[in-house]
This record gives sequence, C-alpha cells and structure tokens, in this order.
Amino acid sequence: MGIDQGMFLVLEGIDGSGKSTQIQLLHKRLAEKNIPVVSTFEPTDGPIGSLIRKMLAGSVETDQLTLASLFAADRTDHLMNRANGVKAMVEGRIVLCDRYYFSSYAYHAQYMDLDWVIQANALNAKILRPTATLFIDVDPDVCLGRILAARDSLDMYEKIDILKRVRDNYFLAFEQLKDQENVIIVDGNKPPARVEENIWKIIQQLL
Ligand code: TYD
Repeated sequence: MGIDQGMFLVLEGIDGSGKSTQIQLLHKRLAEKNIPVVSTFEPTDGPIGSLIRKMLAGSVETDQLTLASLFAADRTDHLMNRANGVKAMVEGRIVLCDRYYFSSYAYHAQYMDLDWVIQANALNAKILRPTATLFIDVDPDVCLGRILAARDSLDMYEKIDILKRVRDNYFLAFEQLKDQENVIIVDGNKPPARVEENIWKIIQQLL
C-alpha cells in the first residue's frame, strides 16, 4: 500500500509511553518531506469524545460497560461523521492516529471480556483497519516515573498496577488478533530521539 491509496497509522501505548510526542515528531518529519499527513486522536474532541472526557474526569456519572460502548461509538463517529472523518481523510494521505481500537481492548478488558470489546468494535474494524499499529512499549515503572515528573499526587500502587495490567492486555489482544492486524512493537524505553529514529525506519519500510 502506498500513499496514493492512503495509509492509516495508529500509535498505541500505555499512559506515559510517549506516543503523543512521537506522533508530533513523525508528523513533522513527514510534512518536511512534503508527504500529505494529518494527525488525529481518540477519545476525539467531538460530541461523544467530549462526553467520554467528562466521564473520565468524574463530572458525569457512568459505568464501565457504557464507557466501553461510548468509546466504540466515538470511534465510528471519528471515522464517518466528523467534518474531517478519518475514512475520508485517509484518501491520498497518511493519517496518524493517537490511540484506536487496541486502546479499547487494553483498557476495557480490565473490566469485561476481551471478546466483547472486540465485538463492540467489529464495525470499526470493518470500516477501517490500520495499515499498521505501532505499539510504543515502555516499562510501566518508567511510564509512572514520567507521569509523576509531569504531575504530582497519584496513587502510585494503584496506578502501577493498572499500567501493568493494561500493558498485559495489549499483548493479549495482539496475540489474539495476530492474523488480522499488523502490529509492530517499538522499544520505547530508549531516549525519545532514538525511538523516533526507529519509528522512522519502520515508516520508510511501509511507504
Ligand atoms: P489519552 O487522551 O490518550 O490520554 P492522555 O490524557 O494521557 O493523553 O486517553 C485518555 C484515556 O482514555 C487514557 O487513559 C486511555 C483511555 N482510553 C480508553 O479507556 N479506551 C479507549 O478506547 C481509548 C481510545 C482511550
């Protein structure tokens, strides 16, 4: 697949893995090479994504099942109904997306069956499967260190527990979907510039 048909590249990782930084660096590099590129993210800043953020912040009450369903709906909306829906944007461009359905598999499988979450996203997978999903793999302890350096006051034990569980769930989902999905693991424990170089090598092979 070349740029003519478009490419949908997803970056995934646990909180503090540096994926947002890497998306910015990759976007800049592609733009410098005059390759048409757009970056986007989930949860979106659209109506469903905004509701999700309120729920995550605790200002709107919810439960884990509703949240998982809303994330799947936000994703469909992101693909189809936004002013710049990803499905349309990807024509002739590289679309970089910060999180996609593997985030759902990793985060929601903490509370429900992974198969249910995969089913809830079946329509999204049918509409648009990523050309590749790059998982920035960083030791949860390193991620926690980064999160703590950026913010203060966190329930460390609870947080490290969650980070480890989410990382484990990512790998369970990668294993379960290895025949359908193109997942590339990137060692994210290195300094950002090294990680960027490795990502760039992978992207050049995909182009
Ligand atoms: P994000 O905006 O990437 O986090 P950050 O504020 O660290 O940049 O995502 C917000 C949270 O939403 C993150 O903890 C992961 C979670 N999430 C899910 O639980 N399910 C999903 O499907 C997605 C896309 C994100």
